[in-house]
Amino acid sequence: MKEKNILIIGGANGIGKEIALNFGAEGHHVAVADINKNMLNKVITESGLNNLFPFEVDAGSWESVKSLANEIQEKFGTIHTLVYSAGITRTVNFLDIDWATWKKTMAVNLHGLFYSIKSIYPLMEPGGSVVIIGSGSAITGSGGGIHYTSSKGGAFGLMRSLVKDLGNNNININVVAPRVIESDMLDVLYPTDESKECLRKEIPIGRLGTPKDVCNAVKYLSGDEGKYVHGQILLLDGGRTYKSS
Ligand SMILES: NC(=O)c1ccc[n+]([C@@H]2O[C@H](COP(=O)([O-])OP(=O)(O)OC[C@H]3O[C@@H](n4cnc5c(N)ncnc54)[C@H](O)[C@@H]3O)[C@@H](O)[C@H]2O)c1
Repeated sequence: MKEKNILIIGGANGIGKEIALNFGAEGHHVAVADINKNMLNKVITESGLNNLFPFEVDAGSWESVKSLANEIQEKFGTIHTLVYSAGITRTVNFLDIDWATWKKTMAVNLHGLFYSIKSIYPLMEPGGSVVIIGSGSAITGSGGGIHYTSSKGGAFGLMRSLVKDLGNNNININVVAPRVIESDMLDVLYPTDESKECLRKEIPIGRLGTPKDVCNAVKYLSGDEGKYVHGQILLLDGGRTYKSS
């Protein structure tokens, strides 16, 4: 197996952490970038791996992402796989949402995605992959999540436009769109066992998704088997979205 240089933005927790540890265990060189320094150090230390490297970044800041790109160029030279997993949310109704919440959510979930691909793309190797962690809620909409679903819907348009703008460069770009994945983020939205059990009952596959499910999709899309998949939104929902009620 050829070792790859992989950058995971939002890699210190949840889905991004699972992806970082998985690629790391396979021997790839993994740059784990995140805003949370403590979690970043923890994931590197606890992994016991010497091929995981921490980078502090605020993905919602253009300057910070540009610095990250410089640091990555210095340390790795090129990147084969870019995964954007940074994301934030909280539940707040349209009638109550304030401008600061809207702006902050857009900054991390959508602007940061743009900054990251814009800055890292010039470092990418031919044959590489970009995988964006979006959300199935941008397809269905979500009560109390107008800021979040709007940012994630933006990711769909951004990805499809990149496919057009970037042309025949042999770098495939896709969105993985999970719905409910067991994680700290899910605990914020569904804090009780009862609320999670209600969710589970809505899912034909019979369980909530796991970070491993998302990781498997990322590995497929960034590996040889998924190379011909380009410009797609892969909905990862256990069948919940399109099941008959
Ligand atoms: N958990 C779910 O059910 C679910 C469902 C659909 C989509 N998603 C998406 O999956 C992605 C990962 O979510 P998760 O469940 O692992 O959440 P998480 O909160 O566990 O992880 C998100 C990571 O992003 C980092 N982050 C936040 N703001 C940042 C910033 N400004 N700069 C850099 N890093 C930042 C956090 O520190 C954290 O490590 C997110 O984009 C989320 O929207 C999650």
